[in-house]
Amino acid sequence: MSEICKLISVTNQKGGVGKTTTALNLGAALAASGKRVLLVDNDPQGNLTAALGFTQAEQKYTLANLLLAAIDYPEDLELHLKRAVLHTENGPDLIPANRRLADAAARLQVMQLSQYNAVGDAERSCEKVMDSLLAPLRTDYDYIIIDCGLKQELLTVNALAASHYCIIPVQAHFLASEGIPEVLELVRSVQAKFNPNLKIAGILLTMYQSRPQLCRSVRESVGDIYGEHRPGIILAAMLTFAGMVFLWKRRPTTQ
Ligand SMILES: Nc1ncnc2c1ncn2[C@@H]1O[C@H](COP(=O)(O)OP(=O)(O)OP(=O)(O)O)[C@@H](O)[C@H]1O
Ligand SMILES: [Mg+2]
Repeated sequence: MSEICKLISVTNQKGGVGKTTTALNLGAALAASGKRVLLVDNDPQGNLTAALGFTQAEQKYTLANLLLAAIDYPEDLELHLKRAVLHTENGPDLIPANRRLADAAARLQVMQLSQYNAVGDAERSCEKVMDSLLAPLRTDYDYIIIDCGLKQELLTVNALAASHYCIIPVQAHFLASEGIPEVLELVRSVQAKFNPNLKIAGILLTMYQSRPQLCRSVRESVGDIYGEHRPGIILAAMLTFAGMVFLWKRRPTTQ
């Protein structure tokens, strides 16, 4: 294997800022350039699953099954992985999600509570479950991109603990920079406790062109505060567009 798989989490605790759109289009663009890409829907809303043309409620095998298998039946994980990964024609593969992911997050929380009483077992830590379940897939893909949700923070911590990079989409809006300190705090805490290799790939200004004057001033202020003074944070901008940038046909799951 010449290239090492890169894991990227797309996260911001603010809603509707373009996380799913970023994960989807980044994944589609990389797949279109010939890379092997797996998208992971890490949000019980299942928006990424729906955006790829799958009906969330119909998905029998999802990220929830994988998390529960990784916790309770790690020996069956390989079988569950084969069932859960969906394939799209010419596009990225997908581990889907639906509301059941919230139940798996609750299971992680129970695990977290019991960890306080147990002697530290790093391999069995509730923050590293996603890392362990994605490990067998690393040889199959060039990129694994995880779309994070808003609520269950433990799911986001799991994604960050498994990732090499995170991208923080920020809407080009006058209150945009409000949520950034919270995300940076979470990233720093994951770096310190679970994943010293995690890097911030960048703060991505989304929906950038709809009001050019406002967008420029948001870019300047976010850049002033977080760009120059924090090494390693690069500002980029994603233009407004009317729909999906890349289109592909869904194909049935192979088992
Ligand atoms: N660059 C863009 N230009 C125009 N519209 C966009 C752009 N990016 C996202 N949108 C639209 O903004 C809305 C929110 O985007 P998206 O679902 O990607 O945000 P999100 O951060 O994943 O939301 P949530 O917090 O609910 O998961 C969607 O309707 C999406 O189509
Ligand atoms: Mg989303």
